[in-house]
This record gives sequence, structure tokens and C-alpha cells, in this order.
Amino acid sequence: MRPFNVVVLGAGGVGKSALTVRFIKDIFVDTYDPTIEEAYRRTVNVDGQLSSLEVLDTAGADQFTSLIELYIKSGLGFVLVFSLTQEASLKEVDYLRQQIYRIKDGDTSVPIVVVGTKADLSNEREVHATTIKTLASRWGLAFYETSAKRNWHVTDVFEDLVRQMRSR
Ligand code: GTP
Ligand code: MG
Repeated sequence: MRPFNVVVLGAGGVGKSALTVRFIKDIFVDTYDPTIEEAYRRTVNVDGQLSSLEVLDTAGADQFTSLIELYIKSGLGFVLVFSLTQEASLKEVDYLRQQIYRIKDGDTSVPIVVVGTKADLSNEREVHATTIKTLASRWGLAFYETSAKRNWHVTDVFEDLVRQMRSR
């Protein structure tokens, strides 16, 4: 089975690795260890059909931004991650979204899911549900609020992306 290449992108520290590791291994990584690049594989059953995913967890740190173009070229589907506790991280999602359309030659049906992480940290929340829902519908993209810590909606993100990638 040919794996679907999924690339996880977003600003530093927003929770890309915690989300990915929760999905792949079903554990929560509490410590912050900035990523350079990490690839994972998992087979998932979505709607009674098996799919193999290769998930590339990327670096949010600025010194690696030159790699973004390569990552976008290599990906079939994208998880664009920001933190609900950090409004500025939403700007990076908008930037990445535009880069994807540019690099994929304006193909507006590229599989993309937007993810707001750390939903469990409700006291630190900076991004209102209505703000992001409005943005996501303007962008025409699926959106999920997740918590890697509490395992909220993590599977939903990847299942949604698998459905989008299958229909390509
Ligand atoms: P880079 O690899 O540097 O780009 O960061 P990242 O986006 O991979 O962030 P990472 O997943 O390492 O998470 C950063 C910190 O936020 C870690 O301490 C995580 O434990 C924490 N974190 C991530 N997701 C959640 C979450 O859903 N809830 C809570 N409470 N903490 C989270
Ligand atoms: Mg990371």
C-alpha cells in the first residue's frame, strides 16, 4: 500500500509534535523538545478501509523555514497547526496556507486541515471559537480544536485528512 504523505506544519511550540505523537503512539509528550524533523508511519482504518500514512513532523523554529517549500512539494495532505493559547500563531497558518496554494500551482483542492491545539488550557486561551470558525470557513478549510493532553479530536484530524486524500 502506497502511504499518503502528510506534513504537519506550524509555528514553534504550538504542539505539532504532541499532536503527532498522540496520534501515532497514543501518549502525551509533556516536555518541550524542539523538533528538527521526525517521520512516523501508521496504518489507520477509516470508514472500514485501511490507509497507510507517513506523517512528517517538522520544525517550527525560524532557522528551518527554508525547508518549508520542500516539505510542501513532498506532501499530499497538510495539517496546519496553531495554538489556541497564542493568537500570533494563527498568522503562520495563514502564511503556510498561501504558500501551499502557491507551490501547488493554485490547486485549491489540496487536502488541508487546520488545527487549534491546547484546548485544555482554557484559562490561557487567546483565540475565540468564533474567530477561527469564521476564518476557516472563509478559507474553505476543515477545522478542529484539539488537546493532545486530553486526547480531544486528535483522531478526527487525521481521519478528515485521509478522507480528503482518498478523494484525490
Ligand atoms: P517545535 O518542534 O519547536 O516546532 O514545537 P511543536 O509545535 O512540536 O510543540 P510541542 O508539541 O513540542 O509542544 C510544545 C509544548 O506544548 C510542550 O511542552 C507540550 O507538552 C505542550 N503541549 C502541546 N500540546 C498540548 C496540549 O494539547 N495541551 C497542553 N496542555 N500542552 C500541550
Ligand atoms: Mg515539534
